[in-house]
Amino acid sequence: MTKAIYPGSFDPVTKGHLDIIKRSSKIMEQVIVAVLENPRKIPTYDIEERVKMLKIVTEPYRNVQVDYYQGLLIDYAQKNNINIIVKGLRAMSDFEFEFQMALVNQKLSPTIETLFMMTNNKYSYLSSSIVKEIAGLGGEISSLVPPEVHDIIIAKYRGQ
Ligand code: PNS
Repeated sequence: MTKAIYPGSFDPVTKGHLDIIKRSSKIMEQVIVAVLENPRKIPTYDIEERVKMLKIVTEPYRNVQVDYYQGLLIDYAQKNNINIIVKGLRAMSDFEFEFQMALVNQKLSPTIETLFMMTNNKYSYLSSSIVKEIAGLGGEISSLVPPEVHDIIIAKYRGQ
């Protein structure tokens, strides 16, 4: 069984993330989208908000589930019999860090493979940080985030 994990901060989910979720759900039997802690980042949205947004946008995909975990990605994968880690790659700037993470994870658990999926060209510039910067300065983010979660994302910046 090809059971994959697509891990990330998803702070918040963007159209770029959703594109990777959709495409990986077509080639994997099961995909767990997992909100994990990135010790290098302080999140804007709490775990419940990020999970809620992911559940809303993945609702149409029957073989996609959403979860969160506070700990090592590899520990979660092993506990849940996951053998594939899916990562999206946007540009060369992503590569060095993702390469390091893939090798560290391979060292920690040699039987779990990391597969990289190239971003859709439409979203190569897109990141959660860019979404937050634009939203924070009052800009329009509707072309960047799934419409179902647009208002939840914006609410953080409009004091609603
Ligand atoms: O969306 P991000 O912030 O690039 O995702 C990074 C994330 C959350 C996937 C990464 O920080 C992670 O795997 N965190 C869990 C802790 C872990 O397993 N670290 C890798 C070993 S150094």
